[in-house]
Amino acid sequence: MKQGVIERFRAFLPVTDQTPVVTLLEGSTPLLNAPRLSKELGLPETAVWLKFEGMNPTGSFKDRGMTVAVSKAVEEGAKAVVCASTGNTAASASAYAARAGLRCVVLLPDGQVAAGKLAQSLIHGAEVLAVAGNFDRALELAQQAAKELGLALVNSVNPYRLEGQKTAAFEVVEALGRPPDYQFMPVGNAGNITAYWTGYREVATRQGLGLPKMMGWQAWGAAPLVLGKPVARPSTVATAIRIGTPATWLGAMRAKDESGGTIARVKDAEILSAYRRLARLEGVFCEPSSAAGIAGLVRASREGLFSQADRTELRIVCVLTGHGLKDPETPKTLPHKWKRVPADFPALKRALKTR
Ligand code: F0G
Repeated sequence: MKQGVIERFRAFLPVTDQTPVVTLLEGSTPLLNAPRLSKELGLPETAVWLKFEGMNPTGSFKDRGMTVAVSKAVEEGAKAVVCASTGNTAASASAYAARAGLRCVVLLPDGQVAAGKLAQSLIHGAEVLAVAGNFDRALELAQQAAKELGLALVNSVNPYRLEGQKTAAFEVVEALGRPPDYQFMPVGNAGNITAYWTGYREVATRQGLGLPKMMGWQAWGAAPLVLGKPVARPSTVATAIRIGTPATWLGAMRAKDESGGTIARVKDAEILSAYRRLARLEGVFCEPSSAAGIAGLVRASREGLFSQADRTELRIVCVLTGHGLKDPETPKTLPHKWKRVPADFPALKRALKTR
């Protein structure tokens, strides 16, 4: 069996026999059925499916795009790559650059990156620069560094990134046997929703299939696409999508409009509630930003989105963009019962009874 995004989907990607393949065998992530969540939403067990992108080598969907972007950078003779990041792009770029033997520079909004992501960039030996500003400013600086210092930019404004990321849509169609009716996902810089829409359109054309409605979700305090204007000081507990000026704004709008979907926003409390609910109901631990899509699903289903649907045939895919272990701090901030016990069995028994 072919493994890795480039080998599996070579015919649909901008690579040739001359392209050196830099891979960590990303992609081929699970599409898990979510029967308990489906039932809680009043839907048949077969309705909701989780595309768990946290199962990629560095724990997020970024690896699909990074294998293509870094392979092309090597092909084009680059010696160094650069990106701005809320953490996951940096973790992925750091790993793929290490794999390729390239220098890697990452610009992170100071103090706003989850611990696991920062740890990844550090351990892979990237040059980590904590910028005294937000992601949007860091991206401007990364673009300037790329232009003036001759580094290869591997943010999703690099078209190779989106080409790689579209392969997730191919996998969803392969696993379900058809495109879903709806796809729920978080939206930050808006590259991923754009990439999925490209992927779904390509398979639809190739195989004569329909298209899903694209349902993108931003965080309440970082929702420029919903407000129709940039947000100067974006704020949310979902740090991965704390972005005020999405680079692929038009792509996201096109995905929404052409598919008859929506781009809306959910509050931090809804995100955290969905985050915990998913972990408890389905045994799947995603990062808070990924749960924005689940929160959107909960809200949309409450508002009656599926009331007219043919429920037995209904297929809804939620993209879980990153692994929960990326952010080991957030679970500790949620109300959760745990207690200390003396190291003896009677005390343990008492503790278990008074649960
Ligand atoms: N979910 C996670 C876990 C992310 O890391 C990101 C983006 C998104 C969703 C949103 O995807 O930007 O394509 O709309 N993370 C970027 C980063 C910005 O730097 O890691 P998008």
